[in-house]
Amino acid sequence: MTVRRKWKWLNNFKSRWSIAAITALLIVAVIFSILRLVDITPKAAVLENKPLPAIAQVDPKEFEPERTPDAPYLQTPERVVLKMLEMAGVRPTDIVYDLGSGDGRIVIAAAQMFGAKAIGIEIDPELIRESDRESKSAIAQTPKIRDQIRFVKQDFFKTDLRNATVITLYLLPEVNLRILSEIFPKLKSGTRILSYAYDLGDFLPNQTEKVTIGDREHMIYLWIL
Ligand SMILES: C[S@@+](CC[C@H](N)C(=O)[O-])C[C@H]1O[C@@H](n2cnc3c(N)ncnc32)[C@H](O)[C@@H]1O
Repeated sequence: MTVRRKWKWLNNFKSRWSIAAITALLIVAVIFSILRLVDITPKAAVLENKPLPAIAQVDPKEFEPERTPDAPYLQTPERVVLKMLEMAGVRPTDIVYDLGSGDGRIVIAAAQMFGAKAIGIEIDPELIRESDRESKSAIAQTPKIRDQIRFVKQDFFKTDLRNATVITLYLLPEVNLRILSEIFPKLKSGTRILSYAYDLGDFLPNQTEKVTIGDREHMIYLWIL
């Protein structure tokens, strides 16, 4: 009698439907759990939904000049470099600045061939990296120049050049004239200025030289302040 009363509720119509509903829910839950474990999501969908790995932030200053350079990058031929430094009579007591130092050839030659301290001022970070590479191979050949050469990523119009004794230029005529009016008044008396290719308008040079390479003549101008 007790047993019959115990299972009587099973005969109840509502209870049977409740049990069926709960069982169905349990089955659905078990199937979802299995599917999640097996992970049947197609691989492409997984890739599409994954966020891309973060790319390291690149500072544009590392790659681009802070502003447009005042002159394009061109190289002074090696023979002209030597002639410029000879004309200035560069010696170990000199501090040579190359304004717009490009690949660093004038700076390296001033230290390697004439024993001077030399500093390259260059606005283009890629050329600073290039001159660092050139410096490394020059230092491998002549280790003592390690402490004599330096390259600074800077606008030469904003550089303190008061300790310069020699300044070299290979720029453009209008930039030379700006240097004449903005930089020359701040330089020490006796500073030697050399310019490859372009003069300083009405400001006459103390000496000029011509270097002939093949069928081209290369002009060099020297001023002593
Ligand atoms: C014609 S190249 C001369 C390179 C090197 N001095 C030589 O003679 O082989 C001129 C260089 O000046 C740099 N330059 C131009 N304007 C500049 C500025 N305001 N400050 C620093 N460098 C500058 C350019 O990036 C370029 O490398």
